[in-house]
Amino acid sequence: MEDRLQAVLEQLDNTQGAQLDRLDQLLRIPSVSTNPEHSDDVHAAAELCAQYLSDAGLDASVRMTSGHPMVVAHSGGDANAPHILYYGHYDVQPPDPIELWESPPFEPQIKDGPHGQRVVARGAADDKGQLMTFVEAIRAWTESGGGLPVRITVLLEGEEESGSPSLDPFLEAHAEELKPDVCVVSDTGMWDANTPAITTTLRGLVYLDVTLHGPSHDLHSGMMGGAVVNPLNELAAILGSLHDDQGRIVVEGFYDGVEEPSDEQKSQWSQLDFDESAFLQEAGLTASTGEVGRTILERLWTRPTLDINGITGGYGGPGAKTVIPSHASAKFSCRLVPGQDPSKIESALIEHLQQRTPEQCRWDIESHGCNPAIQVSDASRWLDAAQHGLEQIWGRRAILMGCGGSIPVVGSFQTILGAESLLIGFGLDDDRVHSPNEKFDLSCFHGGTRSHAAVIAAFAQAIER
Ligand code: BES
Ligand code: ZN
Repeated sequence: MEDRLQAVLEQLDNTQGAQLDRLDQLLRIPSVSTNPEHSDDVHAAAELCAQYLSDAGLDASVRMTSGHPMVVAHSGGDANAPHILYYGHYDVQPPDPIELWESPPFEPQIKDGPHGQRVVARGAADDKGQLMTFVEAIRAWTESGGGLPVRITVLLEGEEESGSPSLDPFLEAHAEELKPDVCVVSDTGMWDANTPAITTTLRGLVYLDVTLHGPSHDLHSGMMGGAVVNPLNELAAILGSLHDDQGRIVVEGFYDGVEEPSDEQKSQWSQLDFDESAFLQEAGLTASTGEVGRTILERLWTRPTLDINGITGGYGGPGAKTVIPSHASAKFSCRLVPGQDPSKIESALIEHLQQRTPEQCRWDIESHGCNPAIQVSDASRWLDAAQHGLEQIWGRRAILMGCGGSIPVVGSFQTILGAESLLIGFGLDDDRVHSPNEKFDLSCFHGGTRSHAAVIAAFAQAIER
């Protein structure tokens, strides 16, 4: 197996130019899933991924859903070999605000950075660059490793950035076809540019979109101001009182079930040598805020949050307009941790708003999804195998870390396929995911392809291990 792996790694090292060309082609497609104007682009990205997977030796197809398509590919192979399900998403976030990009978001450019060269484009790290790490590893095993030593299924989604509405029905309808021994998800980060990581916790998410309606139409603030309700004043006050002065969220029952990390967990994290100032510097800040008395890693990995993601209402154009808006809207979301029930949190938030409905006003409330926090097992033969493969490539053990973000598919794999996931990703904290000038370092891309190649070899041996 070691000889075969060496041949695969050599193949990867010798074909880097072609790999980057393929990534470039994928990054050029503006597959923004949340915007219906881009649905043909989302479809085109699915077709290109299926083409890459079939070139990599898999039996690949684009499967229609009621939303954007899924790409599914199978390797076939020895029925006794481990069956691994690889997941990534080929959709991307909108590039907005577009004027802040230093080069066009869908015209990938190779630029220099502190960790060497990087590719700059929307989706470079989240998640096209990452999904291509395992697609290229699979291709290299097919082309020069004498064929894959495990059975592989690949599932690529086109709706991850827009709430995955088709995912659960698709998994339910195809559970028998997809059911693996273990899933590998490449959509998270490394510890730092030289240290791989396996993520073992993800936060959940509840997202609400609310509008407070008051007067039947916009009013002159001189003629009526002070005598009638202003929905924008009221909404701002309600949103402004969701946190107390200790940074805690005041919604009734919000912290029910939230557990404190164990002393052992805290001491393991304190040994991680987390560089707080570098982390903050990336955001242009010098101090962390949040719940009083918590470290940054505790705040990110173990505590629930409530963040306002957008507020609109009234006049936002140039100059001044003396108006009392007829309505005001806000989008806000909570990151959840294990122990919190997303639907209870959603109901508690709605109840909180309704109890505070200002006189003469009414709410329109829309939910954009609700998913729980995830804890994946940090002890399994698959994890041991992944550790072994990663150590071969990076010369050091992977850090087991938490993640503040959400990847709902991991929960669906647990509940619908009955399968655990290994979250092995190659992003860095400075990748600017969801932001202008998103990038993926080439060292992460090539390290990622090599890592997946080595982890495939380790999985093949995991049965004997
Ligand atoms: N790849 C991210 C999740 C992530 C974020 C991992 C940061 C590591 C670091 C994923 O594509 C994502 O953005 N998920 C959304 C989920 C939501 C739309 C349900 C998120 O976390 O906001
Ligand atoms: Zn992602």
